[in-house]
Amino acid sequence: MGPRLPGDTVTKGGSRLEKLQSERLSERVGLEIPFQLDDVRENVWIDVIQTMDTLYADLVDNQIQLEQKNAELEDAHQFIRSVLGAMTDILIVCDTSGRIQQVNKALETLTGKVESELLSRRLDELFAPESLPLIESFPDKLGSDVVSDCEVSLIDRDGGGAPLAMNCSSRYDQQGRLVGMVLIGRPVGELRRAYRDLNDAHEELKQTQLQLVHTEKMASLGRLVAGVAHELNNPISFVFGNVHSLKRYGDRLIRYLNAVDAGEGPQALQQLRSDLKIDRILADMGSLTDGTLEGAQRVSDIVKDLRRYSASREESVSVFDITEVIRTAAQWVVKASRIKPVVTFDLPDQLEVEGRKGHVHQILVNLVQNAGDVMEGMDDPRLEISCRVKADCVVIRVRDHGPGIPDEDLGKIFDPFYTTKPVGKGTGLGLYISYGLATNLGGDLRIENYPEEGAVFTLEVPLNA
Ligand SMILES: Nc1ncnc2c1ncn2[C@@H]1O[C@H](COP(=O)(O)OP(=O)(O)OP(=O)(O)O)[C@@H](O)[C@H]1O
Ligand SMILES: [Mg+2]
Repeated sequence: MGPRLPGDTVTKGGSRLEKLQSERLSERVGLEIPFQLDDVRENVWIDVIQTMDTLYADLVDNQIQLEQKNAELEDAHQFIRSVLGAMTDILIVCDTSGRIQQVNKALETLTGKVESELLSRRLDELFAPESLPLIESFPDKLGSDVVSDCEVSLIDRDGGGAPLAMNCSSRYDQQGRLVGMVLIGRPVGELRRAYRDLNDAHEELKQTQLQLVHTEKMASLGRLVAGVAHELNNPISFVFGNVHSLKRYGDRLIRYLNAVDAGEGPQALQQLRSDLKIDRILADMGSLTDGTLEGAQRVSDIVKDLRRYSASREESVSVFDITEVIRTAAQWVVKASRIKPVVTFDLPDQLEVEGRKGHVHQILVNLVQNAGDVMEGMDDPRLEISCRVKADCVVIRVRDHGPGIPDEDLGKIFDPFYTTKPVGKGTGLGLYISYGLATNLGGDLRIENYPEEGAVFTLEVPLNA
C-alpha cells in the first residue's frame, strides 16, 4: 500500500475501524502544534503525523482484510459442517494412533453420543468385540493399503451391533506427512435385511421350481412306467404260461418215471406214456423252454433299458443305436397314452451315436407325448419321425398333424411353465427341460410350424459327445 497524505479520505465498509479510518489522526488525538516552534520542528511533527496516519490507515486496511478472511473462514467452516451434518454415512477422523479427532452427525445419531463424548476416545471403544481385530489392524495399514468395504459392527445407541460397510484411508497434511486416517461407514442393516428377504424369496422360488421339475419328472416317469408295464406284461405272461405248462409236464414225467422205476410191464408203460402224452410233452419241451428263456431275456432287456433311461443328469456317455431309442420312446408313449397316433418312421436301420442315451430318450418321450396331446380328438392323428445325419450331427424331426403353434407363442414355447393345458394336466416344463437336456448334450432343439399343418420339432445331437 502506498503512503497516504493526512488529507486523504479512506472510504471502506461500515466497521468501526473503517469509520475511524476516515478521520484524521491529528484531529482525533487533538494534537496542537505550538505557534512558537520553528519551521523545522513543525515539519518534523508533520512528518511524524503523516507517518502515523499512514500506519494507522494500513492497520485499518489489514484489519478489514482480516475481518473478511474471518468471514470467509466462518463460511467455509459452516459449509463443511453442513456437509458433514448432511452425510448419511458415518465419518470418523483419527490420528495415527486411533484417537478420534472429528466425527459427524450420523455417528452421533447412531451411537447416541454427542461429539464431545466421542472426541479423544479411542476408535476401538466404538466397535463390537468381534470387529476389533479388524479395527485394530487399520493403523498398520496406514500409508499403504486402502481398506474398502469391510464389514464391521458398531455399538449402537441401544448397545447392539449396527453393521457397517467400512472404508478406511490415510490422511496427510500439507507437507505430505501421514497424520491419521479417515473412516467412512455405510449402515448396511436395512440393505442386509432386504438382501436376506430377497435371498429367502429366491430360495423359496428355487425350491418351488425344483418341486415342479420333480413333479414333471415324476409325470414323465409315470408315462414311462405305464409304457414299460405294458412292455413287460407280454413276456411275463407267456413266461408264466410256459412255467405252468412245464410244471404240469414235470408232474406227468415224474408219474411216468415212477412207473418205470416200479418195474411196470412194457404194455402198461406204453399205455401210461400215451395217457400222459409223454411224446407230445417231449416234443413241446424245447419250444417251451426256448420261449420261456426268450421271455426272460426280454424282461431282462427292458429292465436294462429302464436302468439306462432312468439315469439322471450324471448319466455317463455311451455308444448306442439312436434309431432304437427313437422307436422305443415313440412306442412306449403311444402304448401308454389314450390317443394312439399312427407313427411313421423314416430312419436308417442303425445309427451309432456317442452320448447320453437316457437324455435323448427323455426328450423324444416329451416331444411324442406333446404331439399326441395336441392331436387329441382328431380323426386321424398322425406322427412322422425322421432321422438323418448332417455333418457331425444327427437331426431328428418329430412332425405332427395337429393345430401347430400360434406365431405369437413360438417364442415362449421353451419357457418354463408355459403351458396351454388346463391346471393339473401339464406343468409346462416338458419342453423347458427337453431344451436344457438338448443343449447339455451339445445339441439343439427347435420348433417351427409346418407349412401345411402341424408343428415340427427338430432335435440335433452331436454324433460324438
Ligand atoms: N406339437 C405341438 N403342437 C402344438 N403345441 C405344442 C406342441 N408341443 C407343445 N406345444 C405347446 O407347448 C406347451 C408347452 O409344452 P411343454 O411340454 O413344455 O408343457 P406341457 O406339455 O404343457 O406340460 P407337461 O409337459 O408338463 O405335460 C404346451 O402346453 C402346448 O401348448
Ligand atoms: Mg409336455
